[in-house]
Amino acid sequence: MSKQILCLPGDGIGPEIMAQALKVLDAAKQRFGLNIEVSHGLVGGAAIDHDGVPLSDETLDMARNSDAILFGAVGGPKWDHLPMAGRPEKGLLQLRSELDLFANLRPAILFPQLAETSSLKPELVAGLDILIVRELTGGIYFGEPRGVRTLENGEREGFNTYVYRESEIRRIAKVAFEAARKRGRRLCSVDKSNVLEVTGLWREVVIDESASYNDVELSHMYVDNAAMQLVRAPKQFDVMVTGNMFGDILSDCAAMLTGSIGMLPSASLNEKNQGMYEPVHGSAPDIAGENKANPLAQILSLAMLLRYSLADGSSLAEAAAADAIEKAVSDVLDKGYRTGDIAFDGCQLAGTVEMGDAVVECLLNT
Ligand code: IPM
Ligand code: MG
Repeated sequence: MSKQILCLPGDGIGPEIMAQALKVLDAAKQRFGLNIEVSHGLVGGAAIDHDGVPLSDETLDMARNSDAILFGAVGGPKWDHLPMAGRPEKGLLQLRSELDLFANLRPAILFPQLAETSSLKPELVAGLDILIVRELTGGIYFGEPRGVRTLENGEREGFNTYVYRESEIRRIAKVAFEAARKRGRRLCSVDKSNVLEVTGLWREVVIDESASYNDVELSHMYVDNAAMQLVRAPKQFDVMVTGNMFGDILSDCAAMLTGSIGMLPSASLNEKNQGMYEPVHGSAPDIAGENKANPLAQILSLAMLLRYSLADGSSLAEAAAADAIEKAVSDVLDKGYRTGDIAFDGCQLAGTVEMGDAVVECLLNT
């Protein structure tokens, strides 16, 4: 039976980079004989323009019925004036929440070819391989009550609620411990338990869960220190686990260590391993439509999709395809191809399309 992927390119550079990932998928299907069907939908601003909402019920149904979703990026100045509840980002948040995609895996891996493009000294980042595990369906992003109210004196007050239930903490901790077990066996849990009760509970539950993972070394760090340590000595980390908002911030920070946020894929998984795969970067409206965007994060997100949601016991082809795509990306970097965000003097400056073509070429001819 064929596997189903729903493709949601979104806004800004989303459609351009998605087109490259789909070319790569076609090449992978050809080389590895994968049986995958792709359907297409609108999300974010594109969906607002077409359907009046950032995620229509039909698209949500399609998402529920697919094995995996390949997501581009959402948002842009055109929709910035809309009230929070109707903005493009809401489409993304709704997908995460409705499909219960609570486990967000954000690897920050430095391709050795890009050590010079990092804003840190090459020796600080050479060999960098961090996995950030971000809780994605709870915390202050989704806590109620939320809003802006008017006080008796007429002044307005904005408010959000930072909440985590024990079960939410426990399930993300498990994912992080399991991930650490498959890597360097070190887990750093990030919180702000010196100030916020909710993250005090976070720490307690993570410690409790660690009893089942004696082979993983657990440490704790306050989020402000974690941000500093990420730019001071990032290689001290193996796996980091944290809540929704801290994870959002720290993952952008970790991304930049690798040279460009344009390189980083991510996976958001639920209990059934159904997943949504998206680049960590946003829709970059300033360069949309100019053939300048780096498509590699989107292409690497496709590789993650094949590995995490499509590969299963019955077929090794998807995992092999994922490996081959990652190798093709590395080969393209070896050949000196660079988009503007990772360019250096004397490189082979490539546009979005050329970069996609180069990956396809490497995938089919090595
Ligand atoms: C991310 C993004 C999103 C987030 C936005 C677009 C809602 O920054 O995936 O990191 O805050 O989660
Ligand atoms: Mg973010």
